[in-house]
Amino acid sequence: MEQSGVEVRKYWDAAGGRMVIILRNGGQFVSQATVEDAYPEDISGMLCFARSGGVAPAASASAGKIIWRVAGVKPGEVRELVYTSLTSRVLRDPASKKRPDDRDAALLSGMSSLPPRLIFEDTATDPIAKIPPPEVPSPPVEIPQAPEMPVVKPAVAGKSGTVISVGAGKGGTGKTTFSINLGIALAEMGFDTVLLDADTSMSNMASYMGIDVQSMKATLHEVLSGKAEPDKAVYRAFSDRLRIVPSGLSIAGFLGIDRNLLGDVIGHFSKDADFIVIDTPAGYNKEVALSLYASDYLLLVLNPDEGSMIDGLKVQEMARILDVRVPGIVLNRYDMTGHQYSRSQIEQYFGTPVIAMVPEDGEMRRKDKVPAILANPCSKTAKEIYHVAETISGRKRDMQPAARPFATRLMEALFKS
Ligand SMILES: Nc1ncnc2c1ncn2[C@@H]1O[C@H](COP(=O)(O)OP(=O)(O)OP(=O)(O)O)[C@@H](O)[C@H]1O
Ligand SMILES: [Mg+2]
Repeated sequence: MEQSGVEVRKYWDAAGGRMVIILRNGGQFVSQATVEDAYPEDISGMLCFARSGGVAPAASASAGKIIWRVAGVKPGEVRELVYTSLTSRVLRDPASKKRPDDRDAALLSGMSSLPPRLIFEDTATDPIAKIPPPEVPSPPVEIPQAPEMPVVKPAVAGKSGTVISVGAGKGGTGKTTFSINLGIALAEMGFDTVLLDADTSMSNMASYMGIDVQSMKATLHEVLSGKAEPDKAVYRAFSDRLRIVPSGLSIAGFLGIDRNLLGDVIGHFSKDADFIVIDTPAGYNKEVALSLYASDYLLLVLNPDEGSMIDGLKVQEMARILDVRVPGIVLNRYDMTGHQYSRSQIEQYFGTPVIAMVPEDGEMRRKDKVPAILANPCSKTAKEIYHVAETISGRKRDMQPAARPFATRLMEALFKS
């Protein structure tokens, strides 16, 4: 039996005296499905158990029906259900071989040619509802090949922009700092770029860029509460091609938002931009899910520590569930004191290539708030960030110096509103 690349096979294991159902996912991620099978009601007892994976409790047997629920089955994953007829007397007897008696074995094995039924349950419309509870991190998997350029589809005519979420799960890994620098890198390379601050509760993008949000008539808060048009919440700084949409700082503003509108706002900006870079908040929450839902790609910004591993994996999983590609990991502060994981360990753990190694760098938090990529475009940090921009855009950076000196452009940009 096969559907959407998911195969369900059933056989009678004569040696073990039990029925085995194997579910093999050769297709897309399966958020939820049910396998139904039948057993003869006149057998003396019934016990069934899921042997591998799954979010328990997974299986039940009653009134001649086996119901096996599977959730969060990754592509390539195999799950197994076993059921057999065992009486409580046999179960209680430590010396028993836990096999059905001959009559039950004959009745059960006679059902082996009847195929189980596979039912997909993917009715959820809310992206959060599609996400299964977090699982224990998977064991290391095979590392995929580093992506060939371009890994992200280039913007098409009519400018339907590519949407990239920057996420981590864990707080403080450098998401905002990296998002700002990536947005500027893309803009410097000639792409119309929108930098969107989806951290509606703990926004700090604007302040990192030296932008005074208080003086703005509107921010993402006003847009998400229906008080302002999206274009009224745009601030321009650092590059003519960069539009910045900061979130507000007030608690009242945050409490008034309807975060379900986030997707519409992203869609609005993607119509006339080449790239939308979304700085997502920490956590495994609705803002992250809604940002991912509207995204083509997720870039993970991680530190080489355990928290990054565990939390990052959840966000990567969320992305896969929502059909968002993860072209790579940015390993930020890879040389931080007390780091616990190497690049190759991280690649193994995530099954995703590290596409940038950003060092511990004081330029990432300058007092004058000039983003590192502009303050020192030849630094290792800037080169790594440009490499990400090149990878996702499929375009090489023009190394020619800009027509006007950066200092001039910076002053112009800073005083533009
Ligand atoms: N490569 C780096 N070298 C040194 N400092 C860095 C580096 N990257 C980020 N930082 C600093 O680390 C701190 C956290 O960075 P940032 O605010 O960008 O993280 P975040 O993931 O967005 O945090 P949050 O989860 O709170 O939104 C900031 O002070 C930032 O300047
Ligand atoms: Mg942040």
